[in-house]
Amino acid sequence: MSDLEGTRILVTGASGRIGAVAVPHLRALGAHVTTLSAGENPDLDADRVLVGDTRSQADVARAIEGADLVVHLAALAHRDIAPPYDVYSTNVVSTFNVLQQAGEAGIRRAVVAGSINAYGLPMNRHEVTPAYFPIDTDIPVDIADWYSLSKHNDENTSRMAWRQWGIDTVTLRFPHVHNEEALRAQAEVFRADPASGLREAWSYLTTRDAARAIELALTARTTGAHAFFLAAGNTLAPYRTEDLLKAYAPQAPRLRRFVEREVPIDLTPARRLIGFEARHEVALPTLDLPS
Ligand SMILES: NC(=O)c1ccc[n+]([C@@H]2O[C@H](COP(=O)([O-])OP(=O)(O)OC[C@H]3O[C@@H](n4cnc5c(N)ncnc54)[C@H](O)[C@@H]3O)[C@@H](O)[C@H]2O)c1
Repeated sequence: MSDLEGTRILVTGASGRIGAVAVPHLRALGAHVTTLSAGENPDLDADRVLVGDTRSQADVARAIEGADLVVHLAALAHRDIAPPYDVYSTNVVSTFNVLQQAGEAGIRRAVVAGSINAYGLPMNRHEVTPAYFPIDTDIPVDIADWYSLSKHNDENTSRMAWRQWGIDTVTLRFPHVHNEEALRAQAEVFRADPASGLREAWSYLTTRDAARAIELALTARTTGAHAFFLAAGNTLAPYRTEDLLKAYAPQAPRLRRFVEREVPIDLTPARRLIGFEARHEVALPTLDLPS
């Protein structure tokens, strides 16, 4: 029996790419799920389906009523999806509103969708490379866009909520998350233009694994406020990681050697804190990097 059997979970942003897989996953474990999303989605099947705005105090209050746990996925999930003011304000106000109300209601844990962009480099238009590999949560941050800034600041909000109200928060720094078919298309982009994936370390996660990470983050024994990277163990580039780093980041120190197509991101916190290991990898051949 799952620890989530019979728990009541609010999932915001449930009609999106990750939510659409996470909601059935949580329900299959016996959780009673309330969803709060900006728009109607005829495919969304939950115990209570609400349409509302995560920036609205009234909408979140209605949605959070009776919840034991919160999964906060709602966001404008890209820099270019809306004007800068809308992306930044939607994301930071929503996270503050959801965590404030969850904290004040005495909810014991919130799992928050963070992003690899919290360290700023993947969307940075300047000539910056990661300070070292594997990328970890101590790596120097260089933020040059409002989406990354919102995800960075959401982590401060999560820490604040834990200190203020004692609500455990787990922020999952997702990489590129998609279904296998879309990930294969992305792999083709990295094959043709490997440099384009450097600052996200060619990382990815399937939506199925993202849903499982949410489950583990909800049930892990850990307490406090945590934020860490998640990714599949291998990259989405069909080349050896050592070859990629030698070619595209020759100045960046490598703190250890990478085996074959191992993703150059530190996944230790994900293993240690929630016991996460990706189960669904996109199978790719390993090719020699063209000179
Ligand atoms: N998919 C990825 O590759 C990826 C990578 C890193 C981080 N993330 C993060 O994971 C979360 C989910 O991503 P996704 O890919 O499912 O995004 P998505 O765009 O597919 O879904 C976002 C959801 O948020 C809802 N939403 C947006 N603004 C809202 C508001 N004001 N009120 C209520 N609902 C609102 C939308 O209705 C939608 O259901 C986001 O926080 C995103 O930033 C996603």
